Order: sequence, then structure tokens, then C-alpha cells
Amino acid sequence: MLAVLKDRFADAIARAFPQLAGQAVDPAIAPGKNPKFGDYQCNAAMAVAKLVGGNPREVAKAILAAVDVSDLAEPLTDASIAGPGFINVTIRTDALAGLLTAMDTPTLGLEPATGAARQTIVVDLCGVNLAKQLHVGHLRSTVIGDTLARVLARLGHNVIRQNHVGDWGLPIAMVASRLMDQAAAGQIDLARITLADLDSAYKEAKKAGTSESAALAACRKYAMGSKLEAEILAQVEDAKAIENRGKEVLVKLQAKDPAVYKVWQLISDVTMQQCLATCRDLNAIVLPEHTAGESAYAEALGPLVDDLLSRGVAEISQGAAIVRVDDLEPGPPPAPPVLIRKSDGGYLYATTDMAAIRHRCQTLKADRVVYVVGAPQMLHFKQVFAAARKAGYAERAGKPVSLEHAAFGAILGEDGKPFKTRSGQSAKLQDLVELAQERAQAVLAERAELSEYDRTTIASAVSIAALRYTDMSSERLRDYVFSPERMVAFEGNTGPYLLYALVRIKSIFRKAAERFGPAESAAAAAAPLTLGQSAEKNLAMALLRYSSVTQDVGRTLEPHRLCAFIYELAGAYASFFDACPVLTAPDEATRRSRLRLCSLTERVLVDALTLLGIPVIDRM
Ligand code: ARG
Repeated sequence: MLAVLKDRFADAIARAFPQLAGQAVDPAIAPGKNPKFGDYQCNAAMAVAKLVGGNPREVAKAILAAVDVSDLAEPLTDASIAGPGFINVTIRTDALAGLLTAMDTPTLGLEPATGAARQTIVVDLCGVNLAKQLHVGHLRSTVIGDTLARVLARLGHNVIRQNHVGDWGLPIAMVASRLMDQAAAGQIDLARITLADLDSAYKEAKKAGTSESAALAACRKYAMGSKLEAEILAQVEDAKAIENRGKEVLVKLQAKDPAVYKVWQLISDVTMQQCLATCRDLNAIVLPEHTAGESAYAEALGPLVDDLLSRGVAEISQGAAIVRVDDLEPGPPPAPPVLIRKSDGGYLYATTDMAAIRHRCQTLKADRVVYVVGAPQMLHFKQVFAAARKAGYAERAGKPVSLEHAAFGAILGEDGKPFKTRSGQSAKLQDLVELAQERAQAVLAERAELSEYDRTTIASAVSIAALRYTDMSSERLRDYVFSPERMVAFEGNTGPYLLYALVRIKSIFRKAAERFGPAESAAAAAAPLTLGQSAEKNLAMALLRYSSVTQDVGRTLEPHRLCAFIYELAGAYASFFDACPVLTAPDEATRRSRLRLCSLTERVLVDALTLLGIPVIDRM
């Protein structure tokens, strides 16, 4: 509706004021502030008056005379103009009913893209690191990534999920080296190793050696970015140990030495098993076939750097290979160059990402690549995107591939600091999942009437709804405070509340069948819609927004828009349900029209909750 009105009014403004040709005048259509005066308003008269130098009310009159919305709205008259020149538009209920009837198809008005509009889109999500526990940040890269992938697929695109696992390089070699030593000394049994063991081996390995080095100093001097600094820091800290064993092991690992490779494989298996299990607990579609870790690009790095050097894209600076990206946005201070090969011959996180971009664009044939990674890596992605463009890697069939960093903020504890567990450790994702499961079970414990099976199924859906909705309902880039109590509440703007709203609608159909016979739903599905009550009209307008909101999420990569939509839809439904009796409606026609509204609401809620990755249940 909003889109149609925008078109119509833009058209009217262009016809009424031909002198504005070539200027993009915003028709400024907004939902009406008070439905008594109108469902929508056009607020363009004031801006247009400034441009053409006239009186805003006169301008509004001219727009009125030029616009044709007679098929959608009540007739526009002088009385439609309010205040300095707002134009109030009241949508006709028969027009709404027509649009809603047209939307009542299996696709719910959201037609999948076809032909040239259908893109191949890579979604980089999850991104765990071997030998490290998943931490709370991975909740975000996993659920936001999963939801964006679901939305883009729902819009008809060919979506390829890629889990860019940190599974290569010195830190992993250090862990492997340590484990091999421990196993040789009979201290551990490699066959029984757990992720917790790997995690402590990782921390021990990192402790070895703490000397500063030239690389770190250079990184800081040229402000090459925190990701790189952390990376170099980790490498520098390991300096002494490298001299002993680590580097040897890395060389062996790179050469796929069977003994070392076997240990690496073990580390990978143990980590990935836990990672994929946690993703399952979050109802996120992250499967073994989505794993495309750093190791997958190991062989490509040498030739890639050679390619860039030979074409003059990269240059040697103090023994290291770098790519200058001075044309980087935003302007000054000049963007730091991307380091792609250290002077000791080692490659970096950025080198691997360059190789991944080339693979995604050239082999996977992506039109768009979406990176769901935390905001601290903003500079890293700006750099590698720019370097990949400069290298000509981010092109497909001569057209630039859109590389987008869907960055997200941090999860904070109620003290406003990064979220930690009770023991003060930095929080593991598994702890968060278990916390949500415990809370959900506690909330459902009193419900004696539920069978054990129902209780378990419901508790699982409630905990997933709680976690995922909490994580996605605030703006992606904003940090948010994690509150275990609030997120499982059945009232307020929470995932469980929305599940509850859905379950209540479903129960109406059970009752309708009991009272009016099994054919009632089918009869309602074909019933003419009458939207006489304002609550019915509001619900209809909310439903009609579904397709444009979902398109917006696909474009902006912002799931909170879908969350806000679902919450508003649930609210519009609750008001409708209070104001308009369904099963006790005055007559059969009204009852069936209202049942049809219930059914549409149910289907839109199911569709939208599924996009958020919230499992849909029948009772609660
Ligand atoms: N493993 C990385 C980290 O934990 C995230 C990977 C993100 N994806 C990428 N293509 N760099 O920081």
C-alpha cells in the first residue's frame, strides 16, 4: 500500500509541477498518526512549496487535483487537507479486501525472484575457530546469518552458506604440537579428547612467550587495525614456542604430514561436532557441507600473492607483500594497506579472505556476498573488499559483485560490560543455550496438564524463540543487554509471546471445527472479506506489509525489521480479537470473514517466525 501510494503521489507531483522535472521529490507518504483522519498521509506539500516558491496549502490542492487514488481510497476533497498542507488518505475497505484476497495465495504475496532478478548469494555465517569454545558472539553470527540466509532464499535467491572456520595457521599448529607432546608423554588419550581439553591447550599454547616484536610495533604505528593486531599479537606471543616446536609442526601440517594431519583432523572433528550440535540447538541451518574453513584456501595463498605481485596490485614493502587501498571510504586518514604476506613468508587472515572472495565470485558465481561478522572487523572487511576490487577478484561476468559486511554489536551483561558467566569467565555459547533451556523448562514446570513430550517440545521451542528473538529484535549494529529473565517472558516484546500469539490463533480453528463442523475452515478460506470494523482494517493493513518488510530485510540485511513487523502484527491481531468476536460473530458471513483473517494472520506468522528460525508449535 505504501509503495503504491508513493508511486501515485510521486506521479501526481511530477504532473502538477513539471518545473521540478529531473529532481527526485520524495512524496513523503507516512502512516496516518490518527486513523480518525486517515490511514496514510502525504507530507510532500511543504517541501514542494519550498522548491516552487508557493503556499503549501495551495500546493497540496494542486497535488490533490493531479492524484488518482480513486481505486484505493475514499474520495479526496479539500477537507482531506489538514494543517499547513498534510493530505490525509483513507483507504477504502473494499480496496483493502481486494488486496488481501489477492495476497491470500500460497506465497502470501511474496513472489520468489525469477530470471535476472534471481541472484546467487553467499552468506558467510557462524565462523567458529578450532580448538576454541564457541563464545556468545557466535550466537549472533549464527542466528543472524541463518535468518538472513532464510530470508534471501524465501525471496527466491540461490543461497550458499559458508562457515569460514578458523582452522589453519600457527595457533592450531601450536595446539596440535602440544597435544602430540602430551600424548607421547602418556598424559592424555587423544581418542577421548574434548573441546574443553582443546580450549585449555589453546590457552596454554598462547601463553608461551610474550616478547614484543617489530611486526606488532609496525602494525600499531600504521594503525593497521585491531583484527590484524590481535592476530599478530597472538603470533608474537608464541614466538619462543615457535622456535621449539610450533613452526615445525606448522610446516608439517602444511605439507600434510600424516601424523600431524591426523591430530589436526581430530581437533577439527571435536570442534566441529560441538559447533554443529550448538547450531542445531539454535535451530540454525549450519551443516557439515557449509564448512569452508581457512584450510580450504591454504594452497591458494601462495599463487594468489604471486598473482597480485606480478600484476602490480601488490608490492613489496620491507620484505612484506602489501596491497595499498588508499581510495578506501571514508576519506582521511588514509586507509592502511592490507598486509598479505609477512616478511617471514607467513600468510594472514586477510590473505585467506582475499582467496575466499575470489572463490566465491569466480567459482561459486556469487552476485552478492554477505558477511555476518562482528563490528570489530569492520576495518578488516573494508580493507579486503577494497583490495579484492583492486585485484579484479570481485567481479562476475564483468559486473561488480556486491560485498557487504552485515556487522553486529556486542552482547552485554546487565552491568553493561561484555557478557560473562557467573564464574566470571567469558561466556560460552553453550552456557547461554543451556541457560535459556533451563529458564524455559522452569516456566513450563507448573503446567501439569502437559505431557512430558509436549513439555520438552515446547520448552525447546520457547528457548530458541527467546534466544533468537532477543538477538535479532534490536538493531544489528547496536550492542544489547542480555537478560535471561526477560527473554523467556510470555508477555511483552519477546519470542515466546509471539509463539503464544500464534498458538492462540491455532486454537480458534480447533474450536471452530468443534462448533461448526469440520468443513468450517474450508468455507472460511473462500469467504468474502468484510472489513467493517477499524480493528479489522488495521489487521488487514498490517498483513499487507509482509512482503515489503521481507524485501526490506533482504536489502538492508536487518532482521529487526521483521521482528518489529511480527510484533506489530501480533498487536493488531490482539486488538482485532478483543474488538471483533469471531466464533460468536453476529452472522455466518462475518464469522467466516473473520476466520479467514485469522487464517491469514496465522500463515503470515508461521512464515515470518520460520524466517527467524523459530520453531512453530501447536500448543503451549
Ligand atoms: N573466525 C573468524 C573470527 O572468529 C570469523 C570468520 C568470519 N568470516 C570471514 N570470512 N572472515 O573472528
